[in-house]
Amino acid sequence: MTDKKGVPPTTTDAGIRVQSDEHSLTVGPDGPIVLNDHYLLEQMANFNRERIPERQPHAKGGGAFGRFETTQDVSRYTKAKIFQPGASCEVLARFSTVAGERGSPDTWRDPRGFAVKMYTEDGNFDMVGNNTPIFFIRDPMKFQHFIRSQKRRADNDMRDHDMQWDFWTLSPESAHQVTYLMGDRGIPRTWREMNGYSSHTYSLVNAEGEKFWVKFHFHTDQGDGNAYLSQDEADKLAGRDGDYHRRDLFNAIRDGNYPSWTLKWQIMPYEDAKTYRINPFDLTKVWPHADYPLIEVGKLTLDRNPTDFHTEIEQAAFEPNNMVPGVGLSPDKMLLARGFSYADAHRARLGVNYKQIPVNSPKCPVYSYSKDGAGRTEKVSDPVYAPNSYGGPAAQPDIGAEAGLWHADGDMVRAAYTLREDDDDWSQAGTLVREVMDDAARTRLVDNVVGHLCDGVSEKVLERAFEYWRNIDRETGDRIEAGVRDKLGGKSDAPGLASAESIAGR
Ligand code: HEM
Repeated sequence: MTDKKGVPPTTTDAGIRVQSDEHSLTVGPDGPIVLNDHYLLEQMANFNRERIPERQPHAKGGGAFGRFETTQDVSRYTKAKIFQPGASCEVLARFSTVAGERGSPDTWRDPRGFAVKMYTEDGNFDMVGNNTPIFFIRDPMKFQHFIRSQKRRADNDMRDHDMQWDFWTLSPESAHQVTYLMGDRGIPRTWREMNGYSSHTYSLVNAEGEKFWVKFHFHTDQGDGNAYLSQDEADKLAGRDGDYHRRDLFNAIRDGNYPSWTLKWQIMPYEDAKTYRINPFDLTKVWPHADYPLIEVGKLTLDRNPTDFHTEIEQAAFEPNNMVPGVGLSPDKMLLARGFSYADAHRARLGVNYKQIPVNSPKCPVYSYSKDGAGRTEKVSDPVYAPNSYGGPAAQPDIGAEAGLWHADGDMVRAAYTLREDDDDWSQAGTLVREVMDDAARTRLVDNVVGHLCDGVSEKVLERAFEYWRNIDRETGDRIEAGVRDKLGGKSDAPGLASAESIAGR
């Protein structure tokens, strides 16, 4: 056997040195392999179990580690230790597409996930946002249906624009986010150049117990947050380099070109929420900056790549319920549902003890009463129950006012949010088209929508789509209809979802 000096010896998972990296144990050089070659068996068995389920949405992504530092004094809004002047902590950020699978191209049109885990001295604080300040729907009952409509059909397991537009046009609250999606934000040039938003309204409480509502904005320091790829560039890249965004982030950090973001907040006084002209907890709406300006909070910098993608990024578990004292959820129904959903997804995907996977473990001591379960590695110690008289951990009711608590009453109903005077589905989308986009951006929007609608959308759904766009902006809707008719040479003859074998077989 060659003596390979300077490298560690290969061992089995039990640490036992192995005799060969290349040859199985056989009866003579040409004979059959034998069952007692434990190392061969271990290699085959581990290999067969390497893949874990991918995330249901947001399966394709990449991420990196870095730091967050609070650079301004925002202590009048929150007592959270991480948001006190000069406080800092290690962070993990993961960026992703929503509908694509783990191996899908980075440059498909989609919102981008922007998830940040801050390992604070008060425990993990997760901000699981997107690169757009709003979302498609406002009731969690529709989330599962929405994601299914963006993914794959039952019969041929292919994506289908007819079902995407079918869902959107029957869900007018999607108009604002669909306008973002079909515009430049739908294909960011790089992850480094995009903004991240909490999108939801969260709550804050300060040391005196005063409460505020807040929206988080991570503004990229690499440009204005609108850097995009054209549909054509993105299509070519999807064929040439499916990992385009992943590669860009990894290489930038490897080369010492560390991306950073400035965290800003919009703050709404607690009482304002009761009378503000739009429902401040409706996830399909922004708070106009003229009403609630941005204030600077701190800086997020990414400066360290993972060395093992699987353990550090694939097994990362972000969850909107990870809020530290001083920050909390809000009456946004979507956010409250997300407070249940993510931890459940992690238990299903990673196992009940997923918080003991190092990337998910807090950097502060953990004194929980959770016990046992598959994959547990941290030892449990007695007493295993509370209350107890043996010195076990005891809850601290004196940590002061909690964020995420508010007054609520009323009969239990299944109903939409109560409308405020300026609440409607179309206005903010129209403002985005008319006042935020310039002529060139509007033309790209129209071209993107025309291209999308001419790809398999049936006539009945098309007609609803033209109406939908006219509700957002009449001129844009007219341009889209003209563009589609021109490209199709008249009406659509695509069967859309009506062609599904599974509908026929029902
Ligand atoms: C009721 C609404 C929603 C539900 C039930 C939901 C559920 C989920 C689930 C189950 C996952 C996969 C988690 C995993 O396996 O790790 C996920 C991932 C994700 N969701 Fe949501 N989601 C909702 C809305 C949103 C919204 C509004 C945003 C952004 C503002 C968002 C951002 C993300 C991101 C960024 C990820 C990927 C996190 C990562 O990088 O691991 N989701 N969502």
